[in-house]
Amino acid sequence: MYGFLLAETMSDYRVAILPGDGTGREVAVEAQKILQTIEQHTNAGFEQTVIPCGGQYYKETGKEWEEGSFDFCKNEADAIFLGAIGAPGVRLPNGDLAGGSVILGLRSGLDLYANVRPIKLYEGVRHKIHGEFTQVWKPGMVDMTILRENTEGLYHALLRRSADRALGREEYEPPPMEFPGLEGEVAYDARPISRKGSSRLIRMGFEIAETRNGAPADGVRRVTCIDKSNVTRGCQLFRRVFDEVSADYPDTEADYGYIDAFTQWLTRNPEHYDVVVTSNMFGDIATDLGAVLQGGMGMAASGNIGDHHAFFEPVHGSSPKHAGQNKVNPIASINSIQMMMEYLGRKHSDGDLLEVAQCIDQSVASHLKDGKELTYDIGGFASCSQVGTSIATRLADILDEKF
Ligand code: IPM
Ligand code: MN
Repeated sequence: MYGFLLAETMSDYRVAILPGDGTGREVAVEAQKILQTIEQHTNAGFEQTVIPCGGQYYKETGKEWEEGSFDFCKNEADAIFLGAIGAPGVRLPNGDLAGGSVILGLRSGLDLYANVRPIKLYEGVRHKIHGEFTQVWKPGMVDMTILRENTEGLYHALLRRSADRALGREEYEPPPMEFPGLEGEVAYDARPISRKGSSRLIRMGFEIAETRNGAPADGVRRVTCIDKSNVTRGCQLFRRVFDEVSADYPDTEADYGYIDAFTQWLTRNPEHYDVVVTSNMFGDIATDLGAVLQGGMGMAASGNIGDHHAFFEPVHGSSPKHAGQNKVNPIASINSIQMMMEYLGRKHSDGDLLEVAQCIDQSVASHLKDGKELTYDIGGFASCSQVGTSIATRLADILDEKF
């Protein structure tokens, strides 16, 4: 629609779309709708490559994805969108999650050390509690970003094995350990936490804090270190590194909490939090709890980000019981595309994409405030595709005004 002249100035980004399993396939279509809308209403261009993958794909073909897919993500794609991985009952011969090469293989193989999960409550969103929709938390009082370490901790061996499979290397097997006093069969996962892994994650947390407006309660720019350093050695290292890194950011408040107490404060006093940094498994659990504050998993977006690559995915997973019904909330995916635009905008110094990211936020906010077409999870009856279209239409209008 812009003709030849503009086509010459168009910046083309290559985006790999990995729909994966279950509802991931449905929300990926809505993510693509948003990319198309951006393309049609700005000068940005996206070359989309859809890569089939996941547990279902493994069940049908014996492969988690086609050979060359990991290399494509690594060497060809500027950014990646992943729908969801997980097909019920489908496991690899070694018992690992089928499709793990995709989600965990990319996290480890591309060194995506930060799992970034913004938790923001939009106006008009209610929470389902006791089976009813109510407004517990106040919009404007929930706006934080949790960074979960994404390459080590309790996931280390599984991440490593998954990357080995994705890269065609021999799969890592941790050396056996002895546990004095335990008898009979013992299963265990080591939880290595490294200085380097902690340091780069924590630093990214402080950097992200500089792009935000501080905590909702008091506007103070704050990074909270969540650990269990009263108990575990890994967490003691994590906290020590936190103190060292925080010394480089004297204008940002360094704040601390233990993971068990944090789950309480997160729900009672979410306005205190601005940026939170934590280890892998703690972050996995705490961010699902945090999603409740924003209206549930259907609203939870994420980015898996490293120094050279990134993939963006809704947090809700493949939710098999809702798959194939066009009913799940695509907003987690749409906001994941927003994160992708922000990432590409910063990485390539592309101011237009940074503005596009804000426009996506505005279109989601306007859709939710209007409240006429909501999916079941936030108290409505609209379909996945209806919501995607409503937001894409609003986005088109906002983009037309700006570009
Ligand atoms: C997530 C998911 C994954 C994880 C699963 C699917 C391996 O729960 O992205 O949070 O545990 O990290
Ligand atoms: Mn999880």
